[in-house]
Amino acid sequence: MSYSPNLLKGQKALVTGASSGIGEAIARALAASGASVAVNYHSEQEAAEKIVSDIKSLGGEAIAIGANVAKEEEVLSMFDQMYQHFGTIDILVNNAGLQKDSAFVDMTLDHWNLVIGVNLTGQFLCAREAAKEFLKRGVKPDISSAAGKIICMSSVHEVIPWAGHVNYATSKGGIHMMMESIAQELAPHRIRVNSIAPGAIKTPINKAAWDTPEAEAKLLKLIPAKRVGDVTDIAKAAVWLASDDSDYVNGETLFVDGGMTLYPGFATGG
Ligand code: BGC
Repeated sequence: MSYSPNLLKGQKALVTGASSGIGEAIARALAASGASVAVNYHSEQEAAEKIVSDIKSLGGEAIAIGANVAKEEEVLSMFDQMYQHFGTIDILVNNAGLQKDSAFVDMTLDHWNLVIGVNLTGQFLCAREAAKEFLKRGVKPDISSAAGKIICMSSVHEVIPWAGHVNYATSKGGIHMMMESIAQELAPHRIRVNSIAPGAIKTPINKAAWDTPEAEAKLLKLIPAKRVGDVTDIAKAAVWLASDDSDYVNGETLFVDGGMTLYPGFATGG
């Protein structure tokens, strides 16, 4: 896929959790579409710096910023650094997320809080900071017809219950209602807030589910498209949602899941 380098020209983007997986692909795709990109990482500084240097070597603009999105003071400092380098923000991709799986009765409070903290509270904190700047600055017609765009990374598990992953599914169910409520509140200010709900995408978070032929065969039973998704499937959707091509789309969840939410188990009737 080739991206149009003028599509997001002049826009400043922050992608959280961008040192690997879906976040990395989105950071690279936004940069290829002309945006300046802040690559947020939590612990993988080296990986983030490598992505930044790759983007720069292709003529793009990027910086790496370390922050744990679950911590308010670190989020505030991340936005400060973003503004020091890029002056403002036009696109926030709320991507940082993790899984800490266990049977429900064995789930510790620490693992519950960790997942809700990063996946849900982290998105709240970053969306709030971005929205403040969008409201203060308003629409810059030469940049975009929106005052700002927020893309929340959800999951098919915002609608598909997931045994053994109660903390994760709860965080994504929360993203669904948080995203729509923020979108409703900010729509009159020309701020667009949408979600992407990926299905099974080949990334480190779910490696065990696809990295052996047996595991992959089991996973494919849940995917009508009969392939595990690639990070670029999600990056393409993110570029579209970040651009004026989707200017009339607000408060929506775009499922990019090869049909996983079509409940393939019912395909033969029941
Ligand atoms: C999870 C993956 C899982 C996929 C489909 C994602 O949100 O992070 O681990 O493979 O949903 O179940």
